[in-house]
Amino acid sequence: MRFESLCIHAGVEPDPQTGAVMMPIYQTSTYVQDGVGKPRGGYEYSRTKNPTRVALEAALAALEDATYGLAFASGMAAIDTVLRLLNPGDHVVAGNDVYGGTFRLFDKVLRRYGLTFTFVDTTDPEQVAAALRAETRMIWLETPSNPLLRVTDISALAQVAHAHPNRPYMVVDNTFATPYLQRPLDLGADLVIHSTTKYLGGHSDVVGGAVVTSDAQTYERLAFLQNAVGAVPGPMDCFLVLRGIKTLPVRMDRHAANAAAVAEFLAGHPKVARVLYPFHPSHPQAAIARRQMRNGGGMVSFVVRGGAEAAVRVAEGTRLFALAESLGGVESLIEVPATMTHASTADSPLAVDPGLVRLSVGLEHIDDLLADLEQALAKI
Ligand SMILES: Cc1ncc(COP(=O)(O)O)c(C=O)c1O
Repeated sequence: MRFESLCIHAGVEPDPQTGAVMMPIYQTSTYVQDGVGKPRGGYEYSRTKNPTRVALEAALAALEDATYGLAFASGMAAIDTVLRLLNPGDHVVAGNDVYGGTFRLFDKVLRRYGLTFTFVDTTDPEQVAAALRAETRMIWLETPSNPLLRVTDISALAQVAHAHPNRPYMVVDNTFATPYLQRPLDLGADLVIHSTTKYLGGHSDVVGGAVVTSDAQTYERLAFLQNAVGAVPGPMDCFLVLRGIKTLPVRMDRHAANAAAVAEFLAGHPKVARVLYPFHPSHPQAAIARRQMRNGGGMVSFVVRGGAEAAVRVAEGTRLFALAESLGGVESLIEVPATMTHASTADSPLAVDPGLVRLSVGLEHIDDLLADLEQALAKI
């Protein structure tokens, strides 16, 4: 099946008992057994397995061209579980432009359990190669990254990972791109993670996460950890992500069309110093983005002239763009990463420019979006 058809059908069969076309929400914690150790339908307890979650996990795997999928209670839960593949003393080379919560988990939580991290610019494969050590077991990156929308050449980095004697896991957080735009496993990555809260859910009404892989051993370990740690999503949340996935391609096309127009508008605006959008000609990795991604996605960041104060004024001055964290929903959002999503990177080498504004460009009419930005920029 082509991608658009997978989005609608992968993981979901009409219910054999009732013919229900939509995946039922199996709102149950436990399942009857016909005898001790003889579960009737293959299900024992919903932390371990739930039919609605199984359907979502199959869909996630299919979309990423993976053999196995696992769903989690949040993107952070997915990331935390992946890091539990490692042992104390192991070293991770991670991107120096990642979601603030990812940095916080690495720096403030996992360091205390004996993992070490080196943050580098993953857009430069030589920097990544130079950071590898004998103890390196994982390379972690986002592309496009949050919030600077830097684009890393996944194939080039996979070659760096494969050349290291440890064969470190190469993990890509594909939240910003979604599998509609790029499929990192096809480009050499070992694991893909998602905050399904974002484009996969698509409607800002659910928090969730995902991990996919095609390696059986890694999957077995992750499935063990998923059950042992227990950061699983409930069936209602799984249903919402499954429903969101059905419209992913049409939403992403419109997100990208609107975002490209917003980027073009901002690039020509006198109060904007710099625009960051993967498919914009001014983007330093535009050529890689065009090779690796189907379109430029729905996220646009920009630096306003006037620094922190101007950024706050713009973010507080929009009417249609809602001032809020998160991204990937049908409605447009605006935020200031330095004080909102990336506040945890303050005073670290990952600290972001206080004049940076991040937009999640939604599906409203482009004229309304541009008019809103115009009037907000007029306030500085
Ligand atoms: C790129 C990226 N990865 C992971 C996460 C964490 O996901 P969640 O908020 O679902 O825990 C986020 C959240 O904003 C994100 O933007």
